[in-house]
Amino acid sequence: MAKQQEQGTVFVDLFGGSGLISHTIKQARPDCRVVYNDYDHYCERLSNVNRTNAMFQALRPIIKDVHNKQRIDEPMRSQVIAEVERWNKSGYVDWISLSSNLLFTMNYAHNFDEFRKSTLYNRLRKDDYDVEGYLDGVEIVSMDYRRLFDLFSKTPCVVFILDPPYLSTDCSTYRSDNYWRLSDYLDVLKCLQGTKFVYFTSSKSTIVELADWMGRNQSIGNPFEGAKTHRLQVKGPCLNYDDIMLVKAA
Ligand SMILES: C[S@@+](CC[C@H](N)C(=O)[O-])C[C@H]1O[C@@H](n2cnc3c(N)ncnc32)[C@H](O)[C@@H]1O
Repeated sequence: MAKQQEQGTVFVDLFGGSGLISHTIKQARPDCRVVYNDYDHYCERLSNVNRTNAMFQALRPIIKDVHNKQRIDEPMRSQVIAEVERWNKSGYVDWISLSSNLLFTMNYAHNFDEFRKSTLYNRLRKDDYDVEGYLDGVEIVSMDYRRLFDLFSKTPCVVFILDPPYLSTDCSTYRSDNYWRLSDYLDVLKCLQGTKFVYFTSSKSTIVELADWMGRNQSIGNPFEGAKTHRLQVKGPCLNYDDIMLVKAA
């Protein structure tokens, strides 16, 4: 896609995450301006990569006898926690990288307190991270995607890259504490109107199907307008939601 764009194209990666898309575009089109929205402050993790590598080097000997992906039991568990505490006391710890190397898949600790309470697994990478040259030449900004979109919406030859957090995705590694609701996903669609874009989604999301339906039923508006909402709370050991009844019978 990037290779086919005309000279002078500006790529704006509205949901930059780890910067992988920005990096890939810059590799393919070093002549083009690429703007990466580092909303999660991923660059802070990159700039501390030597420290993270050093911490992992200190952890490897402690768990050398624990099989790959196996749980780390005592006494190694306490030794790992003591080592991480030392790194935490002396400065920056990349909790996301640490979690992906020592916690169960998709589990994340965001501070020492959460980490020390977690069950540990040996998923520690064998080699150092190498981030040499990553994001070279890419412009880095950090702001809400709507603001960045407004800043570039009038720029000629702009292509927006949109890889928003997916519906039904665990967002716990993301900076935002607020889980994305359907209306948040729908808001993103406003950035697609009249623009050139690359939009990422997954088969878990029904947003494309929804947009297709809305396109075919544009006159429907909000069918619930004027209806009265009644809610009934449903609570149980593993349940917590509301049953909702909408009534427009008058
Ligand atoms: C699916 S991920 C993007 C992954 C990215 N393409 C990569 O290469 O890693 C979505 C990203 O959007 C970020 N995000 C969430 N809310 C945002 C907002 N209001 N503005 C900009 N980015 C946001 C999340 O923190 C997350 O990093």
